[in-house]
Amino acid sequence: MRTIIEPFKIKSVEPIRLTTRADRERKLGEAHWNAFLLRAEDVLIDLLTDSGTAAMSSEQWASVMRGDESYAGSRSWFRFEAAVQDIFGFRHVLPTHQGRAAERILFSTLCKPGDVVPNNTHFDTTRANVEYTGARAVDLVIREGREPQSRHPFKGDMDVDALRALIAEVGRERIPCCLLTVTNNSGGGQPVSMANVRAVSAVCREHGIPLYIDACRFAENAWFIRLREPGYADRAPIDIARELFSYADGCTMSAKKDGMANIGGFLASHDARLAAEERNLLILTEGFPTYGGLAGRDLDAIATGLYEALDPDYLLYRIQSTTYLGEHIAAAGVPIVQPPGGHAIYIDAAAFLPQVPPLELPGQALVAELYLEAGIRGVEIGTLMFGRRDPGTGEEHPAPMELVRLAVPRRVYTQSHIDYVVEAILEVWQRREALRGLRIVEQAPWLRHFTARLAPITP
Ligand SMILES: Cc1ncc(COP(=O)(O)O)c(C=O)c1O
Repeated sequence: MRTIIEPFKIKSVEPIRLTTRADRERKLGEAHWNAFLLRAEDVLIDLLTDSGTAAMSSEQWASVMRGDESYAGSRSWFRFEAAVQDIFGFRHVLPTHQGRAAERILFSTLCKPGDVVPNNTHFDTTRANVEYTGARAVDLVIREGREPQSRHPFKGDMDVDALRALIAEVGRERIPCCLLTVTNNSGGGQPVSMANVRAVSAVCREHGIPLYIDACRFAENAWFIRLREPGYADRAPIDIARELFSYADGCTMSAKKDGMANIGGFLASHDARLAAEERNLLILTEGFPTYGGLAGRDLDAIATGLYEALDPDYLLYRIQSTTYLGEHIAAAGVPIVQPPGGHAIYIDAAAFLPQVPPLELPGQALVAELYLEAGIRGVEIGTLMFGRRDPGTGEEHPAPMELVRLAVPRRVYTQSHIDYVVEAILEVWQRREALRGLRIVEQAPWLRHFTARLAPITP
């Protein structure tokens, strides 16, 4: 069958509100043309992020009811620990309130000023937490991973020669750990192959460098390995995940992605001495080691969600649905990062709106138009987010790429919602030549995209 169906039926619904274009023009004006400043209730299809936005299953809600809120040694904790140990294989598990807390604890334990931490591509919180310790975060994704049109099946792979060169250049003593982000979010949600994990692991082991997996989308990555890597077509996603983690020394995880939960995360490793040190930091800011900033019910919902994320029926629908969105707009000529990623589609706004120069924010202009057209909220990953203003001269420098990310929340939208998104994008594509850019009216000195006030440029 070609029709993609959701492998679930709906038991509880949350209404979304239809608005008119006139309503949306007013709302966007009130939000200063910045989609982050819109109220969620004024958005029809919210593709701002796939993080923490999943719909939980009836089994997860049942787990919530089983949640044991004992401060120490709760049953929920033991269920959580057992699930993480079973799937990821690491002995020592520290629960955290989300992924970045695991990152902060890991890097503040391992890194010191002058150190260097390689990754395929650091996610922004990962980079920030590395750099906060005075260490340098280095991205070593393969060349194809930096080429939007390349159709390499594993564009998240790390360049193993570049890793060897980095170790030779700075010395093993200055590399406290190496990371691999699966899938590679900042690189377009692209997967990492098992062969690459094995090769990176071999180099790390040769030099005694611990390898950590940034595991946020581990289940989606396992599915891509099953689809694209020879020898894995008949393997269960859980076995693929177990093999992948067997090559690593630890992982950080945001359960807001493939934990199918709305909050939570963890840090795990085989290293008892390191875990003891990390546990001291955990107690300082997150909480007692058997809850770490989470309620017992959250721990239980994650323990159930981690297995659901690995269900082949779910993964088939999940990846087919994102691919369908990407392929249908690409077939009509819309330029996207190829091939479609696991959790999101990235539209190349510079190619979509060539008449809008980077400093007039083509990505943000497209985000605004998608909202005005159909109430869809995406996010700009371009000059508003990553451009730079020279503090001395006030001169603006554009970002290397102008992308609009449409991230698909897990199990939230149906196939007809996806068809609606396709239709809206194609509608905007038809009249792309009439679109104009935006100018920044007010901005914060850092992370300006969250709060900037913008205005349309009128001819
Ligand atoms: C690859 C990656 N690593 C780390 C994080 C941080 O996780 P959290 O938002 O739970 O702190 C994210 C979140 O989007 C991510 O995509």
